[in-house]
Amino acid sequence: MRRIQETDGAFIGRNILLLDCHTVQVLPMLKAFHRLGCDVTTVSRSRFDIGAVSRYSRRHIVIPVKAFEEDEYLARLTEILEARRYDLVVPLTDSTARFLSKQKEALGKYARAAVADRDVFDRIDDKQLTMLACRASGIPCPKTYSISENVGEIARAIDTYPAAMKPRYGYGAVGFRKIDSRDELLKYYPEYVRQYGPMLVEEYIPQTGMQYTCDVYVGRDGEVKSAIVYDKPRWYPVGGGASCCNRTIDRPDLIDNCARLLKALGWTGYADLDLIEDPRDGSVRIMEINPRIAATAKIAFLAGIDAARQILEDALEMPVTVYPDYKKNVVTRRLLVDCAWFLKSPRRFRTKPSWFNPFFHGQVFSWDDPLPSLAYLLKPVLRLFRKPENRRQTPAA
Ligand SMILES: Nc1ncnc2c1ncn2[C@@H]1O[C@H](COP(=O)(O)OP(=O)(O)OP(=O)(O)O)[C@@H](O)[C@H]1O
Ligand SMILES: [Mg+2]
Repeated sequence: MRRIQETDGAFIGRNILLLDCHTVQVLPMLKAFHRLGCDVTTVSRSRFDIGAVSRYSRRHIVIPVKAFEEDEYLARLTEILEARRYDLVVPLTDSTARFLSKQKEALGKYARAAVADRDVFDRIDDKQLTMLACRASGIPCPKTYSISENVGEIARAIDTYPAAMKPRYGYGAVGFRKIDSRDELLKYYPEYVRQYGPMLVEEYIPQTGMQYTCDVYVGRDGEVKSAIVYDKPRWYPVGGGASCCNRTIDRPDLIDNCARLLKALGWTGYADLDLIEDPRDGSVRIMEINPRIAATAKIAFLAGIDAARQILEDALEMPVTVYPDYKKNVVTRRLLVDCAWFLKSPRRFRTKPSWFNPFFHGQVFSWDDPLPSLAYLLKPVLRLFRKPENRRQTPAA
């Protein structure tokens, strides 16, 4: 399926520093780097995190602070980079990618970072700028109301309620709020700005349609090297939450819109776009771009696209492998969360793919590397024994 390159020897013994190893996306990335013959060092806040206990991690280093605490994180990361030569540093969360993009020049003397330059990164990191670029390119997206930071002007711009409000630099749906009236906007907007920083107020898309993810890799030459679309037939909590089942599908129209947007933004590298179907007219609207590996990335590896290889090739200034196609109907599930969905959802016997379909891949579990699943199961228990101030992790995505 991929256009084969006989360059695999170039990867053997390459030192990779993989950050944010508490996230689920660490597992397919670790395995893929290992398959290429790389020597991978994992980093996270605890030695019991899933990446830390994976058999594909050569060594694990604890950085006991979050990337939000920039000075301390920079000091720790610099120590690690001074102690050993790394060919590539890979972030897996929004906050660490943001941090690395800011520090790209300063850290550049030690190692390359798999992250865009700051000006390009900022355009994608800010959901409002992304939406405005989308609209300017004629790509379906929710209408933006917050063209000013003045709440009165935002209220005047809103033509229909409900509206949606979310942090411009948000993650994990933290700070998302449905706004049902002008009074609610006047009440919550200032409160949310204080709590979460600048907010985006936009058209609310009814959440009864399908949601999609499109992962795209754009090479240094500005050409799309791979793109894959998968839908999210089930998510938990059932009222709105993270997907617990994904399935690869054939939607070249969505790929085309995502690629056009990334080109308009001047993006290169890996990007993960979230889309939502608008049940009012059937259009599929781009909601945001995540400038890092998706939490659901395992599905793309299973469908035949190796993002770890592409990232490494890019960093080593080699031609980036092109994957012109991918396997359709690949299904991944987070089994335990999908069980919780089954207990709660009235659609439990009608959902497609069937909840009882035995042909699926676990997003965390794999027979060749079972320990991370155990760490994943025990994590909530271990958290109970942590000091309260250490309980919050860096965002999972
Ligand atoms: N305009 C909107 N209308 C309706 N629902 C929305 C809208 N924008 C966001 N949402 C809901 O909020 C969720 C989170 O929003 P979004 O994907 O923009 O942010 P995020 O916090 O960065 O999430 P992630 O961690 O998945 O990257 C979406 O999955 C969707 O359910
Ligand atoms: Mg996001």
